[in-house]
Amino acid sequence: MSKASVYVTRLIPQENIDALRSEFDVEVNMEDRALSPAELKEKVRGKSAVVSLLTDNITGDVLDAAGPQCKIVANYAVGFNNFDLKAATARKIILTNTPGVLDDATATHTFTLLLSVARRIAEADKFVRTGKWQGWSPMFFVGLDVDRRTLGIAGLGRIGKNVARKARGFDMRIIYNDVQRDQAFEAESGAVFVDKDTLLRESDYLTLHVPLLPETRHYISTAEFKKMKRTAVLINASRGPVVDEKALVEALREKLIFGAGLDVFENEPSIEPGLMELDNVIIVPHVASATPDTRIAMGNIVVANISNVLNGRQPVTCVNPEVLKI
Ligand code: DGY
Repeated sequence: MSKASVYVTRLIPQENIDALRSEFDVEVNMEDRALSPAELKEKVRGKSAVVSLLTDNITGDVLDAAGPQCKIVANYAVGFNNFDLKAATARKIILTNTPGVLDDATATHTFTLLLSVARRIAEADKFVRTGKWQGWSPMFFVGLDVDRRTLGIAGLGRIGKNVARKARGFDMRIIYNDVQRDQAFEAESGAVFVDKDTLLRESDYLTLHVPLLPETRHYISTAEFKKMKRTAVLINASRGPVVDEKALVEALREKLIFGAGLDVFENEPSIEPGLMELDNVIIVPHVASATPDTRIAMGNIVVANISNVLNGRQPVTCVNPEVLKI
């Protein structure tokens, strides 16, 4: 009997490819670049499963191009704003993601950005490399204190909670806002639920961990920057469009806030004009989950989902569970 076919839209860890190959006929895009929509449609044609990335827009057109034998699209990411959920459900195609395994890496990266902005690390590094350092000075690169300051968390999901736990090491006061309160976590962590306005006004560090939804697009824009402390730092390792990047450039330029640390951008890989010229922002290329163990763990979930679904079992994760009931 011929093996079911799987298409992988970009290279993921070899261990994960090998695991897929042990069961299926696997084709991988070996070029280290995202496929164009036309290439994607061409490549998924006739496949039983597709491993997609957050850079692949899985629309109804792509699913139609894949064909009726396609049972599952497994995203190699926890975020799934690249999926057209309705289109997949209408076609009875299961969509999956990789929750849980990248919380530590993403929360650690959030702190990396937070500490780097607070202590002006990128700016100071550039200063030394460009030969400007003349010797020690007391007033040199004075940044911000972190210990015992207030950390505001927007979105208290798995990653937001992980950030809160890590913040205990710095003895930070934790406030959060979410669509729902989590009293059990409040009891465990001492985090305090506040409304969005209080979150903006009281946070010394504001970190964003909301999913990208119509309601969270431009969650932070000009009105929000105006409410923040002049000494506040904004960290975004969620999705770029959660922050209005034009408003952010203006806020950083006008020093409405102290600085920002960004892992994600509104129109990746493009960066809003003006942002790169500013010293009070750290810009990194969407690498919050980029650790070896995390990458393999993400792949393990992808493999388990595809193996389960193509063998007639339930996936281990699913973002359109309605399809399992059809
Ligand atoms: C995700 O998984 O959604 C991240 O943005 C990339 O790992």
